[in-house]
Amino acid sequence: MSIQNRKKDHVSLCVTGDVNYAKTNGFGQYDFIHNALPELALNQIDVSAELLGRSFAFPLFISSMTGGYSGAVSVNEIIAEFCEAHQLPFGVGSQRAMLERPDERASFSIARKKAPTAFIAANIGGCQLPQLSRTDIDLMLDVIEADALIIHLNPLQELMQPEGDRDFRGILGSIGELCANLTVPVIVKETGAGISATVAAKLHQAGVRVIDIAGAGGTSWSKVENARSEKPNSLFDDWGIPTADALQMIQASKPEGLELIASGGIKNSLDMAKAICLGADFTAAAQPVIRAVIEEGRDGLQRWFREWERDFRFVLCLLGVQNIRQLSQQYLRKK
Ligand SMILES: Cc1cc2nc3c(=O)[nH]c(=O)nc-3n(C[C@H](O)[C@H](O)[C@H](O)COP(=O)(O)O)c2cc1C
Repeated sequence: MSIQNRKKDHVSLCVTGDVNYAKTNGFGQYDFIHNALPELALNQIDVSAELLGRSFAFPLFISSMTGGYSGAVSVNEIIAEFCEAHQLPFGVGSQRAMLERPDERASFSIARKKAPTAFIAANIGGCQLPQLSRTDIDLMLDVIEADALIIHLNPLQELMQPEGDRDFRGILGSIGELCANLTVPVIVKETGAGISATVAAKLHQAGVRVIDIAGAGGTSWSKVENARSEKPNSLFDDWGIPTADALQMIQASKPEGLELIASGGIKNSLDMAKAICLGADFTAAAQPVIRAVIEEGRDGLQRWFREWERDFRFVLCLLGVQNIRQLSQQYLRKK
């Protein structure tokens, strides 16, 4: 199957299919400690956040998703306009398709056209790195004037994909080379199975500045691939480290200077705030965004965001906290 058709399948399954983990993201183990005396006005609350030295209006990264097929132009256009308007960072989907088919570049370049000042990250799979030249990487970065390069690690997805990669050697070395040679920072993410403390330490040692956990609890890429497969293998549908658990494991030995994005099953502003209390610098979401875009278009995405943003402010108010830098574990209790 071509990359274009695969991507189309992925998007439609993530919107209409039953592709979520049975296990949860792990944030349900915690409850907030309610503050009956916030001594704050709602309009004093500041929800801005920083990542890689840049300031954003809200601590939510729109995760890498689309590009590389004709329908992706309008999806990336909507996401880009939205991120430009709300000062949110976002990533385009894997750019492998545009390296193989130059006519697919438009579905990526639209992102920069519609978001001239937003933070936009390029995206490629770790498995592809050993085969790519520096010219390929530069092309991916140039087409969107990228602010960062995201490399996704997805061994579970590859193994479940009948046509997927089977060789995971040489990825860490390639990441290290890119970190040493690129002028933009390198972010490494999973795609839903999570990143352990051991892997995080290796990535940081290789020069990675930001790790996006992309843990279990949201989209299960084993389920997505099984839904496309003629010979499904559901044994691994629930494989992965829940986002909250991965976050705590990494946080316990987090090296100085490493920034953490918590994602994977972040489904509302309560999950976002819990992740930041547990040490995340930023959060990210994919499936809720693509659902809003495909099901309800521009207006749906705006509505979805307005509600999340409003509820996030409510959480801070109910904790008696004025900004996200004040959020910490002291505002949570284990149930
Ligand atoms: C439709 C769709 C397409 C995706 N494509 C990519 C991709 O091209 N590159 C990537 O790094 N991650 C990709 N992902 C994974 C997400 O970025 C994210 O890490 C994962 O879905 C977990 O987040 P969620 O639980 O909020 O969906 C995709 C996710 C979705 C829903």
